[in-house]
Amino acid sequence: MNAAASPPASDTGPFVAITGGTGLLGSYLVRDLLLAGRNLALIVRRDRKKSAATRVEALVRHWEDALETALPRPVVLEGDLTEPLCGLTAEDRHWMHWNCGELLNNAASLSFRGSDRAAEPWLTNVTGTRHALALAREVGIEHVHHVSTAYVCGLRSGTVAEDDLDVGQAFGNDYETSKCEAEKMVRAAGFASTTVYRPSIIVGDSQTGYTSTYHGFFAGLRLGHTLLTRVVKGSTSGPALLALLGVNQADHKNFVPVDWVAEVIAHAVQTPAARGRTFHLTHPDPLSMHTVGRVIQEAVETFSVGASPDDPDLCDEQWFADNLRSQLDVYQSYFRNDPVFDRRHTDAIAGHIPCPPLDDATLLRMSHFAIETDFGRRPARTPASTT
Ligand SMILES: NC(=O)c1ccc[n+]([C@@H]2O[C@H](COP(=O)([O-])OP(=O)(O)OC[C@H]3O[C@@H](n4cnc5c(N)ncnc54)[C@H](OP(=O)(O)O)[C@@H]3O)[C@@H](O)[C@H]2O)c1
Repeated sequence: MNAAASPPASDTGPFVAITGGTGLLGSYLVRDLLLAGRNLALIVRRDRKKSAATRVEALVRHWEDALETALPRPVVLEGDLTEPLCGLTAEDRHWMHWNCGELLNNAASLSFRGSDRAAEPWLTNVTGTRHALALAREVGIEHVHHVSTAYVCGLRSGTVAEDDLDVGQAFGNDYETSKCEAEKMVRAAGFASTTVYRPSIIVGDSQTGYTSTYHGFFAGLRLGHTLLTRVVKGSTSGPALLALLGVNQADHKNFVPVDWVAEVIAHAVQTPAARGRTFHLTHPDPLSMHTVGRVIQEAVETFSVGASPDDPDLCDEQWFADNLRSQLDVYQSYFRNDPVFDRRHTDAIAGHIPCPPLDDATLLRMSHFAIETDFGRRPARTPASTT
């Protein structure tokens, strides 16, 4: 723990312990809760090269650069959800007992496929959630917030209420099944309050286009980009792409910008009336697949560099079709028609925080960022410099 090394700059009550703070949504949650003056403790695993403390320092500096303001340092608790009690030392658990009043469990594996329950996505989403809840119980935390997904509804159609969970629905992939199981476990755990947040598909920052993960909309964009840069000119028309994926252009898909999702969760964490409720963090105006295809086409034609016939990396269409077929169930999980997500609870507590429109200019800004950073392979500039 680096609590002694980096005391919080403010004294605004008990700490919120957060898992998954280094991820896309988590990094915005950290930003917004620090800006709101909350004391934070981040449960973060080390990566191959960096300790948890180094990773958290890089995250806070990233926001300091972007916002051009100094931020207080969170306490860092090095831990991994796949280990019992998240692998925290007795000293860290003792510290949590005296300092943490809430847990915001946001960490997850976003792997879509995996039948082995000892591997992802089950390991972090189900076993990891069980470990996080056991940790919260052991250190005496009473209020738990859990980031789930709107797609715990699986393959349901019609209108899905925020209080619905297991109605016997079928699921589109292992990720959805694992997140539904986790949400059931969290609700049954018996904390003084359990608040559940269910975003739909998270895209980038509505202001800057910044993202660090490339699911959903970006999976389709990456496909269009690969077609243009590695296969043949002319194969990137939006309708052709959607036809390849077997997508119906009249279907609708629900995307939400990460900055809005984080702002609403941060607000709910600070709002006692939100406790114990479940919130669909979904867009009031889902996009038609026709619009998605059209924007992807415009984005790759504007920002991607087309393939040259003498490029040694050029692939033939057969290679591409074969590879696409092997990935098709992933794309179809992303692009099947969505139900209507009722969002009465969200409107009641966050009606004053409108979800930014995902118009062409916003989606093109996000696409530009993704293509410019080669979908995460090139280092991202700070959010501030992407405008
Ligand atoms: N992205 C979406 O479209 C979407 C939509 C709906 C709901 N959600 C939910 O939103 C939450 C955040 O997702 P995201 O998009 O921000 O994902 P992300 O960018 O992939 O971040 C995942 C976070 O979880 C952490 N994590 C994963 N396994 C862990 C483990 N075993 N121990 C400790 N930490 C672990 C990661 O840490 P490392 O940095 O160490 O890998 C990272 O901080 C998740 O609960 C997800 O299910 C996401």
